[in-house]
Amino acid sequence: MAEVEARLAELAVGHGEALGAEARATLSAGGKRLRPLLVLICAGAERAEHAVHAAVAVEMVHMATLVHDDVLDEAPVRRGLPTVVARAGRERAVAVGDLLFSRAFAEIAGPGAERQVGLLSAASIGLALGELAQRRDAFDTSIGEERYLERCELKTAGLFESACLVGRVAAGAPGEEELATYGREIGLAFQLLDDVLDVCGPPERTGKARGTDLLDGTVTLPLILARERDPELAALSLRSLDAASAERACDRIAATGVLEQVRDRGREGVERAKAAVAAGPFDEAGRRLLGLVADGVVERYS
Ligand code: IPE
Ligand code: IPE
Ligand code: MG
Ligand code: MG
Repeated sequence: MAEVEARLAELAVGHGEALGAEARATLSAGGKRLRPLLVLICAGAERAEHAVHAAVAVEMVHMATLVHDDVLDEAPVRRGLPTVVARAGRERAVAVGDLLFSRAFAEIAGPGAERQVGLLSAASIGLALGELAQRRDAFDTSIGEERYLERCELKTAGLFESACLVGRVAAGAPGEEELATYGREIGLAFQLLDDVLDVCGPPERTGKARGTDLLDGTVTLPLILARERDPELAALSLRSLDAASAERACDRIAATGVLEQVRDRGREGVERAKAAVAAGPFDEAGRRLLGLVADGVVERYS
């Protein structure tokens, strides 16, 4: 992971002052680095050198999507700092995201890398489709669970799946199917928890503002379930919300008890992820690591 970090820092320089500064700020603001960690663990020690580039590429795709996501979500804060769009405006943020995407693909492209490029490209296409679907669904409180889950698969689970495969496939290593299932399951659980934290996560720990989803009209599972229990929430129009009333709506959602229910759904996914790994050709150390990461996806507060 130290090598990944060093390479990310190296890639952030250059590309002109304006873009470089924003890209650098995005990189150095931190982040959990969960996806590159998955790349390295799934690749295994014997493929480590090659996997560093794949890990860097996956984190850069992730960061590109975050910069663009904050444009779409009009999000004020990310990783504890003002977002690129808040700091530098929409045009700059779009360009910074494009730069990060391009850098990501340059990091893995080369002879023999067709599958890696294909995996990352499929995940990026899924992300774009997921974000577009989310915009189309915005402010529509009739959105149900099925549609919500479909969006999460596209915008989050796909990149997790790619992260689990991209450091491994070139070598034709076994266990691809099991790792794909593992990645999708923990990716979905990760988004469920992100949506829980949007309702209840303290900003000083999550690095993001509370209630961002409600304010930008994104209907997530906590709201879908809470609307069935609380008539006032069922009658709520998302378009009428401001920061203060969004906070109050978050408190009402939490008061219905659905957050624990959503967390439990995440835990079920984690169990399915672990079962997939248990059935695969992995050694004890690999299983243990994958199990630890999977648990961390749902037992988290940031
Ligand atoms: C945020 O991802 C976007 C989602 C898919 C929910 P992370 O929570 O992994 O963001 P960082 O990298 O830690 O900032
Ligand atoms: C995940 O959804 C965004 C991406 C996968 C790009 P969110 O919009 O919930 O992510 P955050 O909460 O802004 O990090
Ligand atoms: Mg967002
Ligand atoms: Mg979120």
